[in-house]
Amino acid sequence: MPRHLIDITDLTTEEIDGLIATAEDILDRPDAYQDVCKRKQLATLFFEPSTRTRLSFESAMLSLGGNVLGFSSAESSSTAKGETVTDTVHTVSCYADIIAMRHPKEGAPFAASQVSEVPIINAGDGGHNHPTQTLTDLLTIHRERGSLSGFTIGFCGDLKFGRTVHSLVNALSRYTGIRYIFISPLELKLPRYVKEHALKQRNIPYEQTTDLSAVMPELDILYMTRVQKERFFNEEEYLRLKDSYILTPAKLSDAKPDLSILHPLPRVNEVSVAVDRDPRAVYWKQVRYGKYIRMALIMFLLGLTPPPVTTSLP
Ligand code: NCD
Repeated sequence: MPRHLIDITDLTTEEIDGLIATAEDILDRPDAYQDVCKRKQLATLFFEPSTRTRLSFESAMLSLGGNVLGFSSAESSSTAKGETVTDTVHTVSCYADIIAMRHPKEGAPFAASQVSEVPIINAGDGGHNHPTQTLTDLLTIHRERGSLSGFTIGFCGDLKFGRTVHSLVNALSRYTGIRYIFISPLELKLPRYVKEHALKQRNIPYEQTTDLSAVMPELDILYMTRVQKERFFNEEEYLRLKDSYILTPAKLSDAKPDLSILHPLPRVNEVSVAVDRDPRAVYWKQVRYGKYIRMALIMFLLGLTPPPVTTSLP
């Protein structure tokens, strides 16, 4: 049976720490990895829009010396003819060595993993989970703070539909000394099932507020998110909530000097472009790290080990 990544907790914390170490090694010596996936093929099956996730997966595989195939919209596949997602994946698993898939239906990657001969990576399933964004976020936090423990993190925006938040809370709940502050409109609070599963069952306390400025001075990490327009049933409700939080340089005036501002991107209005010039904004670094952690993940799921470090004689 191949290893899949459907939920971030499919990986142990030791495995996550190993992936972070590999990604950091790739950042230090990318050339050493250029042939690790020679003659291997990655398929990217994206039934929903994507820029960073799909292209970072493709760039990751190409930088490992492998090849990529796939589609970037359901309309260009046999889904448009009525084929089920499991039949599509069953087909592609006859051609590719590993599959990254995004789907609007929660649970679709899990269903795919039941019929696939090759590893399936969940690249986002509806408003549920997004484990590879979480690996990206963890690598970013690790590089910014040197540790995945001992900080106060504020999650701000659409915590109800934001799948990256759900997966990151699940991942962080297995590390220690983290204080959680959830900042959202009442309508977009973190779902009960995430709180129960990740936090309450582990007796991890958390705070909830609607007021970002009130908690800003306490934060070490601010994880901003987009209000997920495509998950709303009602356009009016989206329009009412979409600008609930708009981060500007002025709102950062009493934030800690070593705050790290993350965002999985894309942003719409919730972080003003002027914030990009603040050294505390690390979301563009986060975009870059997404490629390296996916390189590490592809190697891991294919059972390939990092190339040895060769020291040249003086
Ligand atoms: C996120 C997603 O698709 O859930 N984007 C991403 O993969 N970087 C966040 C979002 O779309 O708001």
